[in-house]
Amino acid sequence: MDLEKLLADRLAPAFATVAGGPVDPAVRRSQRADFQCDAALALARRLGRSPREIAAAVLDRVAVDDLCSSAEVSGPGFINLTVADKTLGALVSALAADPRLGVPRSADPETVVVDYSAPNVAKEMHVGHLRSTVIGDAAARLLDWLGHRVVRANHLGDWGTSFGMLIEHLLDLGEAEAAANLSVGDLDSFYKAARVKFDADEAFRERARLRVVALQGGDERTLRLWRLLVAQSERYFLAVYDLLDVTLTGRDFQGESRYNDLLGPTMDELDQLGLVRRSDGAACVFPPGVTGRDGEPLPLIVRKSDGGYGYPATDLAAVRHRAGELGATRLLYVVGLPQRRHFEMVFAVAGLAGWLRPPVRAEHVGFGSILSPTGGCCAAGAAGR
Ligand code: ARG
Repeated sequence: MDLEKLLADRLAPAFATVAGGPVDPAVRRSQRADFQCDAALALARRLGRSPREIAAAVLDRVAVDDLCSSAEVSGPGFINLTVADKTLGALVSALAADPRLGVPRSADPETVVVDYSAPNVAKEMHVGHLRSTVIGDAAARLLDWLGHRVVRANHLGDWGTSFGMLIEHLLDLGEAEAAANLSVGDLDSFYKAARVKFDADEAFRERARLRVVALQGGDERTLRLWRLLVAQSERYFLAVYDLLDVTLTGRDFQGESRYNDLLGPTMDELDQLGLVRRSDGAACVFPPGVTGRDGEPLPLIVRKSDGGYGYPATDLAAVRHRAGELGATRLLYVVGLPQRRHFEMVFAVAGLAGWLRPPVRAEHVGFGSILSPTGGCCAAGAAGR
């Protein structure tokens, strides 16, 4: 039941009689009453009568007592309508009886990827991850309810050079000890301990470097240790999701590592399209119009000068995959605002490459940072990562 329409349908015949022809009663929400109707004002000149007179004439000819507790002329000639409590009661009961609560399904359902939560392996979830989790889950549930096909993409940080030091630290501790360390929800101390060794110990650094090479080269023993780290962290994240009562499950983990095989083809396609420029040995795309503080064009680095791919390349591969393979037409990224620039650039480059073109669109659903009492950002790292 649509109250505005219901009231407009009642008023329309009375207006037609007074005006001698059809009139849109223009009923809308009001701050003074529940609804107001302004149509009398627009008729005044044509009918040569004052708006208040017209409004009174309309009210004389209309019966809304069964719906409204009051209907009166107000100000220069508005009709103010206050809906009776019993009407609202009936409305609420009617809605409650409708399992869809009066919300229609979308006439045009689409595949929507909601990229949210996305914590990082072997690291505690910070408040930004928690916010992304609850905001993203609300969006996913709403879109589900509207009848869209929703793909929950938990873009886990499960790949990259830091895994060299994490795996070496795991080996130093021994697998059993490391597993215990990781399962108690004290992931940060594991990460920090690895970091301390990495910063202080040249030999450890070298081991970590070789380990990254082994990981990227698909060395089976290294991959097994990596999976151990990921599995422990996933168990911890799932416990948090359970506490938050969100709909994310183990099936929704679609971490950065999933895109590893797509990085090369993504890079090749950008190259073939002539979008890539070399800058200091790195393969970059400069989206037109994106400049830094000094007005210089800003590059999105697709491949670093050491040949490695980073966070931006993974997101490009993910856009390409989501639009191309998954057939999604809407991509939502529920990520803190410190990453606004990153997504601007990724979307711009994906647009240039033709992966994001109508009807496919991407939106960064950003949110602000929660600061510590001293004003610092609670999220670790400058990019909020
Ligand atoms: N893991 C990232 C971080 O902690 C967030 C990833 C967000 N999603 C994405 N597709 N980039 O900052």
